[in-house]
Amino acid sequence: MYLIRTVNALHKKIQLLKKTKNTIGLIPTMGNLHDGHIKLILLSKKYADIIIVSIFINPMQFNNLLDLQNYPKTFKEDYQILQNIGVNIMFFPNVNDIYPNGIKNQTFVEVPKLSKVVEGQSRPGHFKGVTTIISKLFNIIQPNFSFFGEKDYQQLLIIKTLVKELNYMIKIISLPTIRLKNGLALSSRNNNLTVEQKKIAPYLYKIIQKTSKKIITQNIENRKKIIDESRFSLIKKGFLIDIFDIYDRNTLNLSSEKSKKIIILASAWLGKTRLIDNKKIF
Ligand code: PAF
Repeated sequence: MYLIRTVNALHKKIQLLKKTKNTIGLIPTMGNLHDGHIKLILLSKKYADIIIVSIFINPMQFNNLLDLQNYPKTFKEDYQILQNIGVNIMFFPNVNDIYPNGIKNQTFVEVPKLSKVVEGQSRPGHFKGVTTIISKLFNIIQPNFSFFGEKDYQQLLIIKTLVKELNYMIKIISLPTIRLKNGLALSSRNNNLTVEQKKIAPYLYKIIQKTSKKIITQNIENRKKIIDESRFSLIKKGFLIDIFDIYDRNTLNLSSEKSKKIIILASAWLGKTRLIDNKKIF
């Protein structure tokens, strides 16, 4: 595996590899790799000849400095995982190489409407940071395929919109959320949970599942009552709720229409850790 630290070196290496291999698969990450990432990488090998994993904790998408500082940094472990799994290139740039003129002066890319709702309301500027770094990675690497987890549902929807609306010739491939046996969605942020919080965290998905069942079996007109009950259950468990509601899967507008494709989107704090999860209904 090649460890590459700069955009220039990456360009050169890709040119060289492309002499004998054809397609490129990119898995963008912020490191602290877990089973969810590994499943994406294994899947990518079925699609592409050259597998590139980028690890970049993108400061532009953090609207909270403390969150950025606390984000787990596990270079050695990540390097070992990627080496063992047979990735071709680990791209590990530093901030100055990606944003040489600083973040404030950086040209940005934004998917307007979808970036401003749900998570975008709680984390202003977050998705602008995501779409900017993803566009940069797409332009630098020009992959044929790029792989994302479905845990970050809104992010995935926004990236698919970005690809469509900016005519990137890249196929976005997603994988369902990988969970622990107790239902907790794998996330790098789980590492910040205390032992006690790790026992409570699985209730986020348990309550999402209960809500989903109620929505299916009861009258959807009861949506507000069902959601209020679920929120109350989460609060009782010790969560501080940021988002918990039912949305249209394409527009991310609040939805109570049974005929449409809908999704429960949730994000809630346990202490200093913000967990997010979702479940499609219908
Ligand atoms: O989901 C993530 O890890 C990040 O938002 C991503 C897609 C790598 C962009 O920095």
